[in-house]
Amino acid sequence: MIFWKAFFQNSTVGESSEKNFKNIFLLDKTCDKIELKDIYLSSTKNINLYELEQLCDSVGWVKRPLKKVKIALKNSSIIISLIQKNDSKTRLVGFARATSDNGFNATIWDVVIHPDFQGLGLGKVIMHQLIKQLRQAEISTITLFAEPDVISFYKKLGFIKDPDGVKGMFWYPR
Ligand SMILES: CC(C)(COP(=O)(O)OP(=O)(O)OC[C@H]1O[C@@H](n2cnc3c(N)ncnc32)[C@H](O)[C@@H]1OP(=O)(O)O)[C@@H](O)C(=O)NCCC(=O)NCCS
Repeated sequence: MIFWKAFFQNSTVGESSEKNFKNIFLLDKTCDKIELKDIYLSSTKNINLYELEQLCDSVGWVKRPLKKVKIALKNSSIIISLIQKNDSKTRLVGFARATSDNGFNATIWDVVIHPDFQGLGLGKVIMHQLIKQLRQAEISTITLFAEPDVISFYKKLGFIKDPDGVKGMFWYPR
């Protein structure tokens, strides 16, 4: 396991538009799987929709209309992304977002790490940052939907299934 150290670069702490930071530089690392260079953790809402679509494609998610994705991002309270910057090129390698009532509750959506970068602790990095920001906003209940094969990933982050026997209910158009 690689331990990621994060430190602020061009710190924007305290700027109102981007709650705590714009870019956190994660250490250059070389592991046996891939050369990990210049990976940034970002809270920008300015996400390239085509890159996000490619990232979601890379893990086999069903395509969604970009127009709707754009609206969903615009209405998300927090977006965290992982961007690899090599020379002048950038590449979106991780993403997660949360919607919130800004009082009590928030829900996390679209947690994804590109397969080339999975298993290196980056999913944990992105989730920790999202949870940290939601806690800073004094959100007390954070929910998410987990596919069966990622339940252990979320459990390791402290998520529990159906506390107090509360069961989620769903309504879908038929
Ligand atoms: C799920 C996902 C985001 C995890 O990201 P990642 O960067 O590979 O995960 P990490 O390397 O940070 O793993 C953190 C911990 O969770 C564990 N873990 C990661 N993926 C796991 C999985 N699918 N099942 C069980 N445990 C998992 C790791 O072993 C690690 O454990 P450790 O802290 O004891 O070492 C990533 O695999 C992914 O994008 N999957 C495809 C999309 C997806 O299914 N998203 C979730 C939608 S519900």
